[in-house]
Amino acid sequence: MKTQSHSRSLLVVSAREAFVEVISEVFPASENHKVTSSSETFAAMNGRAVNLVFNHDVVIIEADPDDETEVNAIKELMSDRESDTVFLAITHSDVSISKARKLRDIGMDEVLPISIDSESLKAVVDEQLSRRQVPAQSVHDGPAALGKIIPVTQAHGGAGATTVAVNLACALASDRSTFFRKAESNRVVLLDFDLQFGNANVLVDLEDNGGFLQLIGSAEEPDDHLLISTLQRHAQGFDVLCAPTPIVPLHSLRAEIVETMIALLKRRYDYIVIDLPRAVVEWVEPILKQATQLVLVADTSVPSIRQARRLIDLYREENVGLPVEIVINRDQKPLIKSEHMREAEKVLETRLLHWLPYNPKVARSAVNLGRPVVEMKPRSDLGKALARVSAEISAKEQVKRKNSR
Ligand SMILES: Nc1ncnc2c1ncn2[C@@H]1O[C@H](COP(=O)(O)OP(=O)(O)OP(=O)(O)O)[C@@H](O)[C@H]1O
Ligand SMILES: [Mg+2]
Repeated sequence: MKTQSHSRSLLVVSAREAFVEVISEVFPASENHKVTSSSETFAAMNGRAVNLVFNHDVVIIEADPDDETEVNAIKELMSDRESDTVFLAITHSDVSISKARKLRDIGMDEVLPISIDSESLKAVVDEQLSRRQVPAQSVHDGPAALGKIIPVTQAHGGAGATTVAVNLACALASDRSTFFRKAESNRVVLLDFDLQFGNANVLVDLEDNGGFLQLIGSAEEPDDHLLISTLQRHAQGFDVLCAPTPIVPLHSLRAEIVETMIALLKRRYDYIVIDLPRAVVEWVEPILKQATQLVLVADTSVPSIRQARRLIDLYREENVGLPVEIVINRDQKPLIKSEHMREAEKVLETRLLHWLPYNPKVARSAVNLGRPVVEMKPRSDLGKALARVSAEISAKEQVKRKNSR
């Protein structure tokens, strides 16, 4: 019954006949609704409610958060919740936010004032029901995800962070011989968190679907359904969250939203590659706290190395042992490191292991065609180097994981 989206069964629980009548008018039988009602309170039903409520698509309860006995009875009922029935509580209009929250805490999907108009009530029901219809492909049932968070940042504007992030995501998605699950490709998502100047979508030829704006605009923290609906699948087998097309203030994204996003994505993806904004904003904190590695793209010039050092210090305040992979862009790996390269290694307290050659021709055509270099020109020096850097980064993850077993 629940999977047939056209007919909907609703149960109205209220002692007041007038209330039941109003709800029945909002959801008429002529629009394929089937409304039944119960004038018994949940406390009075005393356990019998389980059989009654969970067979319905929607249960609308006229609830008084001050009625402790009834609230406890609902709470107990909700602890047995197994179905995807939507629960709406309708309360007196002057109920305080903290009391409304109490009803949410015991499992109500929405708490609405009795003054709500019929159109809004219908809209809430529609929205709640549509959230429950998760696209089949978005729920994976394979082995547990690795959940590795890899933010990519830059020591200076134009250093190559987006190029590295996009190609890393693409290379990781096409790598089918991971240490953990042979012959199965990695589940990879690329998040463009460069809110104001993000252009990762251009590099992979995708148009913003408005998903990020929806996440920012939502009063609530995202759930799996909302988050998955914002992602787009790339032909190379990774998912992408595009930065919003309109330029939004950096602080319009809240740290709690980012934290929830990361927690949800970690359960689904092996690698979560994140193109960070250049600015240091509060909501970067939950990303850094959870990061398994930070990829920092720089060159060997003195200003770039100094800025890289400052960023590492700042980011390690959030995550003390955060491993940092420096990627030197637009430079060949030298046979013998010069004095100033050794100096750079000293300043950064790490060896410079990853190098990407300067190849404007390949880089430009990849951007213009919206195709990752590792897919379009895998045999070019830049394509090979990007693939190598990706393999080295994921290999480090695998070694770490192996050692920690
Ligand atoms: N190794 C390279 N050789 C030649 N061109 C490159 C190389 N790496 C990146 N580019 C080009 O440099 C430009 C900037 O690169 P990218 O957008 O990746 O940098 P970014 O650090 O993300 O910059 P932004 O500050 O705009 O976020 C792009 O046009 C890109 O194609
Ligand atoms: Mg960028």
